[in-house]
Amino acid sequence: MTQFRLSPSILSADFAILGEEVRNVVAAGADWIHFDVMDNHYVPNLTIGPMVCEALRPHTDVPIDVHLMVRPVDRIVPDFAKAGANVISFHPEGSDHIDRTLSLIRDHGCKAGLVFNPATSLNYLDHVMDKVDLVLIMSVNPGFGGQSFIPEALNKLREVRRRIDEYCERTGREIHLEVDGGVKIDNIREIAEAGADTFVAGSAIFGKHDYRDVIAQMRAELAKVNTGEAR
Ligand code: DX5
Ligand code: ZN
Repeated sequence: MTQFRLSPSILSADFAILGEEVRNVVAAGADWIHFDVMDNHYVPNLTIGPMVCEALRPHTDVPIDVHLMVRPVDRIVPDFAKAGANVISFHPEGSDHIDRTLSLIRDHGCKAGLVFNPATSLNYLDHVMDKVDLVLIMSVNPGFGGQSFIPEALNKLREVRRRIDEYCERTGREIHLEVDGGVKIDNIREIAEAGADTFVAGSAIFGKHDYRDVIAQMRAELAKVNTGEAR
């Protein structure tokens, strides 16, 4: 049976009390914390950096899942590794040398993720599967929380799931398939059936008062998933 992970995005949390928000959402059942880094250059928004990651690190033991929406990427990778990040993902458009950036992330002791915007081709995966620990499929255009899920992402997830299964069966490795943008209680099951195993959700969780209740409802939907049939 597939193991599913929920990675709440603190982009929709209350930034004035981030430590408390992280503790509360982990107590409510979050598996990872999704940490969105925007630079007002690669994406038209500006958020948080390594200093905030370092400040949050003592608040939880769960993996911090850093999503870099920045250009360039390499300069900031060691800072996030030092700040306690566990997974560092980046967009191929943000790096001049994708293979090198993937190695850099791993050399700093983190899992390396490659992120695909809605219109970005999966071809970027062709020659780097051995250096990728996570594939992140964007189901919105990056930059803002609270956008609607783009249905074409389901086809993309199916295609990546096929590639990952083929590769992992052959090599015995594990690669996570994460989805980010517009994930809600009412679509999470369909998204899981398309192949995602790790779910970012920002507004769906932090937009509600009772995080435990939303997470429980998401898990109840995931418990109904029939991966065998759909894949
Ligand atoms: C968007 C970010 C997402 C965002 C998702 O650029 O990468 O992680 O927080 O927010 P929701 O779940 O509200 O679509
Ligand atoms: Zn994100």
